[in-house]
Amino acid sequence: MKPLLLALPGNEAIGESLAGALAAEYAIPETRQFPDGETYLRLNADIKARDIILVCSLDRPDPKFLPLIFLAETAREMGARSVGLICPYLAYMRQDARFKPGEGITSAYFARALGQHFDWLATVDPHLHRYRSLSEIYAIPAAAVHAGPAIAAWVRDHVPAPLIIGPDSESAQWVAAVAREANAPYIVLEKHRHGDRKVEVSAPDMQPWRGRTPVLVDDIISTAHTLIAATRRLLSAGASGIIVIGIHGLFADRAYDELRAMGVSQIVSCNTVTHPSNAIDVTALLAKAVEKLTRA
Ligand code: R5P
Repeated sequence: MKPLLLALPGNEAIGESLAGALAAEYAIPETRQFPDGETYLRLNADIKARDIILVCSLDRPDPKFLPLIFLAETAREMGARSVGLICPYLAYMRQDARFKPGEGITSAYFARALGQHFDWLATVDPHLHRYRSLSEIYAIPAAAVHAGPAIAAWVRDHVPAPLIIGPDSESAQWVAAVAREANAPYIVLEKHRHGDRKVEVSAPDMQPWRGRTPVLVDDIISTAHTLIAATRRLLSAGASGIIVIGIHGLFADRAYDELRAMGVSQIVSCNTVTHPSNAIDVTALLAKAVEKLTRA
């Protein structure tokens, strides 16, 4: 029997294309809020002895978490053979250490909580900084797909003579990979974050890169202050026509408008978090990883 892929609310577009790529049956579970804010859900589908795949991006994760695990448990009680999770954006990865006494290492707690309900997990470019791989905190099989090839293909198709730019040392890993595949040079700037919205980025020397289109690439755009600070530096260095690419466009509060107001020529994101800036499709990369995980 074909696997059954269920998209949680807000994940219908990527859910449907993943179902196509995985030759899975596609369905949307029934969910709604009771007047008191609790969640009602119903799986009106044939679940018994079936491989179930839930699709839920975990941006703004707290209200999504309970419906997600309730659905996983419902599927299990209805006799599912396995319950996996495709989570195009995986939350809580940035709190990967106790930076101040008393802080919770929420990346690890979240991993333990998700791991109790799913047999496997596939995601796109989780923020791996102090962790080298998901297996350091996830006990279930967990695949981290790189969006790099899809971003590089977009750059090749849309940007003549690109210069790939990473806003901070953490970005070096994906910036180097994108540049290699896009056959473009790259530079990496230095960032100092003093608070959620207080970010300083080093000034680049753009002299050697005259005639190239600056393409800033970051994994997450949250407040957008990292990319705003980098854009400001590039503009002061004489750059123009700046293109900004985020793998995961979270765009907190007015971040999208604030970044647009900087005068960048284009803001582009992958379809890991549903947003009008989505232009890079990661379906094929995710489907390949899921096929590998579920074959094992
Ligand atoms: C840093 O750790 C990440 O790679 C991103 O640079 C960061 O999350 C971006 O956040 P914001 O948009 O709030 O500056």
